[in-house]
Amino acid sequence: MITQSLNRSTSAYTSTPFRTVNDFQKAKNDSRKISMLSVYDAIFARLAVEAGANTLLVGDSVAMVLYGYESTIQATVDMIAAHVAAVRRTCPDVFLVADLPFGSYRRGVNVAMNAVEAMARAGASAVKLEGVAGNEKIISHIVESGIPLMGHIGLTPQSVLALGGYKVQGGTEEGAVRLAEDAKELEDLGAFSLVLECVSRSLGSRISSHLSIPVIGIGAGAEVDGQVLVASDLLGLSPGRSPRFVRRYLEGAALVSKAFEEFCCQVDEAQYPSESESYD
Ligand code: KIV
Repeated sequence: MITQSLNRSTSAYTSTPFRTVNDFQKAKNDSRKISMLSVYDAIFARLAVEAGANTLLVGDSVAMVLYGYESTIQATVDMIAAHVAAVRRTCPDVFLVADLPFGSYRRGVNVAMNAVEAMARAGASAVKLEGVAGNEKIISHIVESGIPLMGHIGLTPQSVLALGGYKVQGGTEEGAVRLAEDAKELEDLGAFSLVLECVSRSLGSRISSHLSIPVIGIGAGAEVDGQVLVASDLLGLSPGRSPRFVRRYLEGAALVSKAFEEFCCQVDEAQYPSESESYD
């Protein structure tokens, strides 16, 4: 079933990667949905762009997915910048967003600008940071310095300890109003777009319809201006139960395990390599 739907959609699907912030605004103005994938390496970046992803993100989720940490709090500037460079080498033209990791933008403008500079030099087209309160000055400074900024509100994983877990946000009218105000403030501060994570579908719709800039959802329903997922989640490579908003387009872990198992078994039974896989 999964394969059929993939074949059907890929055979007709064409899309060009975004190059600049103007492509984001144009997509919103033309009511075209934006697809963004969080990837960290050359293999998945190339496949994502070839498949038609409009834009890529090197998210701080890299700390959990590739480095095995418990949360994104462990991500560092050097860690993310190294992956931004790898993605950029493979996809020289795509609009590439880099996450600013925990701590890198809460210790004054100089420290924050060092992080922004590291991402830009590694090849990022824009940076993304979580939350609004307390970040207003640095957001304005980044925008004024000429680096495009993407906001991230709703469930902000760098605050998972304070939020008490990975939960749906804006569930009360007061919380919903606060998120709507945060979104508007991000727009007013000059963000070109924002990620809205884990809110009700109605709140997603309300926020995106009140903003001029595109709202890219992750667990925010279908009525926002685009969707982002972590590539390893949609490929079914991440261990454990997926959050409700993740659609697994592939059971990748099972497929990879099977291939590894076959290799180990064939080595054990001296079935690999064959003659044609050996040099004379
Ligand atoms: O870190 C990440 O990959 C992200 C996306 C899930 C939005 O922030």
